[in-house]
Amino acid sequence: MKKNLLVTLLLIFSLGPVFSLRADEGMWLPQLLQAMNESEMKELGMKISAEDIYNINKSSLKDAIVSFGGYCTGEIISGEGLLLTNHHCGYSSIQSHSSVENDLLTEGFWAMSKEEEIPNSGLFVTFIVRIEDVTDQILEGIPYDAEEEKRQQLVRSRIEQIETNAVVGTHYEAKVKPFFYGNEYYMFVTETYKDVRLVGAPPSSIGKFGGDTDNWMFPRHAGDFSMFRVYSGPDGKPAEYSKDNIPLKPKYFLPISLKGIQPGDFTMVFGFPGRTEEYLTSFAVETLQNETNPNRIKIRDKKLSVLSEDMARDDEVRIKYSAKYASTANAWKKWIGQNKGLERLETIDQKRLLEKQFTDWANADPIREQRYADILPSFQEVYKERAKINLPNVYYREAFYGIEMMRLAARLNALTKIGLGTKEEKKALEKTKSYSEKYFKNYDFSTDKKLFVALMQMYLDNVDPSFYPDALKEGLSHHYNDLNKLADYIYQYSILSSEKKMDRFLDRFSEKKIKKLEEDEAFKIYRSFTEAYSRQIYPTLVDSQDEIGKLNREWLAGLREMMPEKRFYPDANSTLRLAYGQVKSYSPTDGVQYDYFTTLKGVMEKEDPSVDEFIVSQKLKDLYKAKDFGIYANEQGDLPVCFTATNHTTGGNSGSPILNAEGELIGLNFDRNWEGTMSDIQFDPVMCRNISVDIRYVLFVVDKFAGAGYLVDEMVLVKEKAGIVEN
Ligand code: ARG
Ligand code: GLU
Repeated sequence: MKKNLLVTLLLIFSLGPVFSLRADEGMWLPQLLQAMNESEMKELGMKISAEDIYNINKSSLKDAIVSFGGYCTGEIISGEGLLLTNHHCGYSSIQSHSSVENDLLTEGFWAMSKEEEIPNSGLFVTFIVRIEDVTDQILEGIPYDAEEEKRQQLVRSRIEQIETNAVVGTHYEAKVKPFFYGNEYYMFVTETYKDVRLVGAPPSSIGKFGGDTDNWMFPRHAGDFSMFRVYSGPDGKPAEYSKDNIPLKPKYFLPISLKGIQPGDFTMVFGFPGRTEEYLTSFAVETLQNETNPNRIKIRDKKLSVLSEDMARDDEVRIKYSAKYASTANAWKKWIGQNKGLERLETIDQKRLLEKQFTDWANADPIREQRYADILPSFQEVYKERAKINLPNVYYREAFYGIEMMRLAARLNALTKIGLGTKEEKKALEKTKSYSEKYFKNYDFSTDKKLFVALMQMYLDNVDPSFYPDALKEGLSHHYNDLNKLADYIYQYSILSSEKKMDRFLDRFSEKKIKKLEEDEAFKIYRSFTEAYSRQIYPTLVDSQDEIGKLNREWLAGLREMMPEKRFYPDANSTLRLAYGQVKSYSPTDGVQYDYFTTLKGVMEKEDPSVDEFIVSQKLKDLYKAKDFGIYANEQGDLPVCFTATNHTTGGNSGSPILNAEGELIGLNFDRNWEGTMSDIQFDPVMCRNISVDIRYVLFVVDKFAGAGYLVDEMVLVKEKAGIVEN
């Protein structure tokens, strides 16, 4: 009895960090705020109501928030459709308008009138019209122990029907998504605008200041923002790009606060977080932390060293590969931080304790035992099965697909699968042509050849030979088992090795061409890899994924039953969420305390003209020397640049507005701190911070640095504390 009590007490204390929810943790569904969060938010200082944030009967904050291009968040900040997002979210658009002679990335760009704004084909923004709980309609009559296959079929067909019915007679789209692994379902009705024009971007020396060195870190000094404008057709509805389109008249746009921030201030981040996995079991974290992360980090170490060597050597390569380098380095650095965080928190041990608690709880009641006692042993088994293919899968994704030529091969392969002479073929051919054009625009033949050699070598060194694809073995044996010689051959003769050869190949595409492609050495290697993958990796992956999906659903159902008083939030799944917390500093390591904000002084301190990432422009230096900060200075007369807060965010939240207690814009979320990157798996209120660029720095750059003050005139600035102007 005594021992039991001790164990229980131990559990309660040790589980604290995993499962006691503090205000900062959680990404909440906006339509449930009123029921779940509003009173706490008000206690924490929020001055507006849940209805001001999400309301489908009148305009609310949510009407100013968009999914930007499907991978970032943006927000509307004027009555004329002006949109703010991160520099790194607009990066590929900015890059696509850049060349060596006219380098918008390096120089920055500002449209001085609407006529100068630049259209971006393929870019879109999506608003949320409404969110509906459709759980009952989806799950009605499906028993807990329904046969899995039947269950999935039924769920799928119901989803399809609900999605179709929801939008008949409208130009909206509807998407139903599972939450808590299929314990709940919500439908998102959306409206997508496709004419989104580039208005402005600061030079990289501001937008990407600190580059990959500072990425995922604080103290930070990047002005990570860019500006776009959303256009509608003359009728206000979404339309493809046309000169006749007009600036969007939004239902709502965000007022901007110039009142500044203080530690402890209530904050919210509203946006589209991509993916979190807070409810993983210890088995899954073990594989991730001990095998997946270390190996993908190792592969990217290699890839990055090849790229940086060539980029340093050649300016053209530098421009072509800058976006690719940044995105490769970004996840690489996050994984390194994530592993450190998981180790520090002893996440695996904490998960094991929770699992023990769950098992005891399940076993203490016959009905629960029947339902839940098998879950954890089944998890263990399925992850054991999956572990057999984990390493080859990591190398397939990271090393094999890390070679660009293999990605191009994948596009061609898709093309060969489409019936010749059909309408689809014509379309697919056009698409492949434009893909190829873009591909070669940012391609360097000798860099990719080096990648081929380096990454294939890693594959050979780390993956069990039973997984090696035949064509690779044959190719090697034809070339004295020398990867360099194989690469020499491929990169000289393959159809995929140059734009000219590709153009010739795609011109008058025919059966004969397909035959020729199938004889191509690079293409043979591609096919052989994917064939080996579909035979040896994919089946286990799919089977385990299905099983894990089902187990996750039951696991979540069980956890929620075990802890009825706990407020659970669903894992991020690229749907609109609100996180709330407060402005707060943190201590990264013993004896070190970071302030909660940085200023322009820090930019000057970090300046290093010999390092690309730390160049400071003369103009910025002049403004700094003159202390010409206008209305954007803080109370000390300094210019604020970035700040940290405790909001729970993840990838996809980039560009999200960070709002104050009044719902006014105080900055743009663009990163997390390195010490907190494990928050996708376990949030730690002591260590986890989101990093935002202060809106005053954004406006300073637009107004004082770029001389585009006419844009600031479009916005609504709130300069006084609400209490003072109220009458
Ligand atoms: N780490 C941030 C994110 O995940 C910012 C990435 C872009 N910035 C950079 N310096 N690479 O997207
Ligand atoms: N930079 C990330 C993004 O592009 C946000 C940082 C994070 O992962 O929290 O969404």
